[in-house]
Amino acid sequence: MKALLSTATGGPETLELGEVARPTPGKGQMVVDVKACAVNFPDVLIIEDKYQFKPQRPFAPGGEVAGIVAEVGEGVTDFKTGDRVIAACGNGGMAEAALVNAANSYPLPEGRDFAEGAALLMTYGTSIHALVDRGHIEEGDTLLVLGASGGVGIAAVELGKAFGARVVAGVSSEAKADIARQAGADEVVVYGYQPFDKEASKALANMFKTAVGGDGANVIYDAVGGDYCEPALRSIAWEGRYLVVGFPAGIPRLPLNLTLLKSCDVAGVFWGAFAAREPQRNRANIARLFQLWEQGKISPRVTERFALADGGKAIAKLGDRSAVGKLVVTI
Ligand SMILES: NC(=O)c1ccc[n+]([C@@H]2O[C@H](COP(=O)([O-])OP(=O)(O)OC[C@H]3O[C@@H](n4cnc5c(N)ncnc54)[C@H](OP(=O)(O)O)[C@@H]3O)[C@@H](O)[C@H]2O)c1
Repeated sequence: MKALLSTATGGPETLELGEVARPTPGKGQMVVDVKACAVNFPDVLIIEDKYQFKPQRPFAPGGEVAGIVAEVGEGVTDFKTGDRVIAACGNGGMAEAALVNAANSYPLPEGRDFAEGAALLMTYGTSIHALVDRGHIEEGDTLLVLGASGGVGIAAVELGKAFGARVVAGVSSEAKADIARQAGADEVVVYGYQPFDKEASKALANMFKTAVGGDGANVIYDAVGGDYCEPALRSIAWEGRYLVVGFPAGIPRLPLNLTLLKSCDVAGVFWGAFAAREPQRNRANIARLFQLWEQGKISPRVTERFALADGGKAIAKLGDRSAVGKLVVTI
């Protein structure tokens, strides 16, 4: 079968379309004929050996897929050949077929497109876990989302609205502001590009404070990091929750006195580890996502589709910050 392969450590230009043997399912596993594979920031990191998990080469990037079950392994009772599914697979999704665990797979609802389905699990799974389990978000809260036009960011905006929060989106450009508004953001701060000196950092803190309003942001969802973190933290409310989700702009350092002054919490978010350690709580979150999807309260915003051979171009767009919305490879 064809797969987009990482054969050496490097950027998206190192990926090659190649032939590999079709996988065979072990106990509890299935082989899925891939119709769509969502592109996520971990794909940028994994091919450069900068991700938490380092698969053996050659491997295909792509952590979540939608497709049709081609073969089921021993002990799989919830799915059969021919079922339409979505599944988290970690890597290996940018291929004609992917090996998935049945425990990490879900039926793709009737009438839903494969591309939309492929873009559900990682972004919304991360953001529901962040906002609910780590951020304890409540109706009436003010939520500030950094990187609000990216994969996990849009999911946080939509979920924040679904949970009754007032949502302020932070993005780097007007084009990205549009997609954050379409996702439901009540207000948008266009923060431009780092690096920020002391004055620029103070000015950005003031922009965030004005946008979130007098009492500050009860929950801050940070999937960006870098120079954006400290100005955002300065806009947090008394007893607010600062969610550490990702660092495409770099790993920031925090002056801890700010947390004392606001009596706030800084909470780490690691969805993959949560899903592995607490599968039942994760499945309950995913079940809630399917309900919200059916009710039209969330809907994966696929903005661009790429052929398998062009998967590297999609990964490059996430890496150079030019992606707007959700990119998906379709087969
Ligand atoms: N903690 C977890 O469990 C978990 C799970 C999934 C993903 N993540 C992490 O969350 C982050 C976002 O993932 P994603 O898939 O949503 O990525 P994405 O779609 O590429 O979104 C990332 C956003 O970060 C912003 N950004 C700021 N500086 C950037 C830079 N130098 N390069 C690229 N983007 C930059 C961009 O928005 P602006 O230009 O508007 O700032 C971009 O929209 C990644 O770090 C990823 O590893 C964490």
